[in-house]
Amino acid sequence: MDLAGKNVVYLGGFGGIGQKCVQELLQRQIKALAIFDLTENVKLLDEWKTSNQNTDIFYQKLDITQKSDIEAAYKATAERIGHFDVVVNGSGLLDDRLVELTIQINLVGVINSTLTALEYMNKAKGGKGGLIVNISSVAGLQPTPLMAIYSTSKNGVTTFTRALGSPIHYDHCGVAFITICPGYTDTGILEDIEKKTTFPFFETSMRTVFNKVKRQTVEVCAENIVKAIETAKNGAVLMLELGEIHDLDIPNQWNPQLED
Ligand SMILES: NC(=O)c1ccc[n+]([C@@H]2O[C@H](COP(=O)([O-])OP(=O)(O)OC[C@H]3O[C@@H](n4cnc5c(N)ncnc54)[C@H](O)[C@@H]3O)[C@@H](O)[C@H]2O)c1
Repeated sequence: MDLAGKNVVYLGGFGGIGQKCVQELLQRQIKALAIFDLTENVKLLDEWKTSNQNTDIFYQKLDITQKSDIEAAYKATAERIGHFDVVVNGSGLLDDRLVELTIQINLVGVINSTLTALEYMNKAKGGKGGLIVNISSVAGLQPTPLMAIYSTSKNGVTTFTRALGSPIHYDHCGVAFITICPGYTDTGILEDIEKKTTFPFFETSMRTVFNKVKRQTVEVCAENIVKAIETAKNGAVLMLELGEIHDLDIPNQWNPQLED
């Protein structure tokens, strides 16, 4: 997709990865950018507006755990810019001590945001189609023993996005889906990671290893997320690890036997 002239919604646009993705997107001469986030970063927003006067950049307050906030943010955005070509679900929480909140933000929130965005984008309902990008994680590709809750939420995001990335849905609604699975990326989410494990009270040698895992810079991760958006193939699951993009082939384990 050529991003020039496109309308983009970015959830979590003031976060570590979000900020850098926004900066990459703004270099593509997009037409409008709506940032949905929990709190406004007024300084950053002003800077972006000043240096990108041809793009309509605005903030919508949203707590992704609240369905009414999600609906209100998309409604206000549709009223302002008409339609969205790209939606990036990029908010998230990593703290296994907060079980319900992790599932609410990382999984239920992403599902509700996706379904609400689809109401506007679905060609079968008069929308223009487009692309929905859900940010999962390498922890959403396999179980991560020390982060069982986070990993469960992210595996949910991967499965949900792959399910909607089926041609069955694309043929019906004209909206493509991709799953982005970054590896460790240097942002605030990794701060005190050793205290945010599923069972923080016991020491394991794995925890030491956890802290030693190589990290990619947030700039490299953001460059590759935007590259992935530009080259998106419906249903793709892309692992963004240490500066490289890997297009994953995840085989089905079960193939249904059909009655004659
Ligand atoms: N940094 C990594 O190593 C890494 C690796 C894989 C995946 N990810 C994923 O990338 C995404 C961005 O993470 P990040 O590293 O930039 O972290 P971050 O903490 O810097 O950003 C998280 C963003 O989510 C927003 N958010 C949190 N709770 C919210 C709520 N209730 N409602 C609305 N917004 C809320 C925050 O305001 C922030 O903008 C997350 O989905 C994260 O799980 C990060």
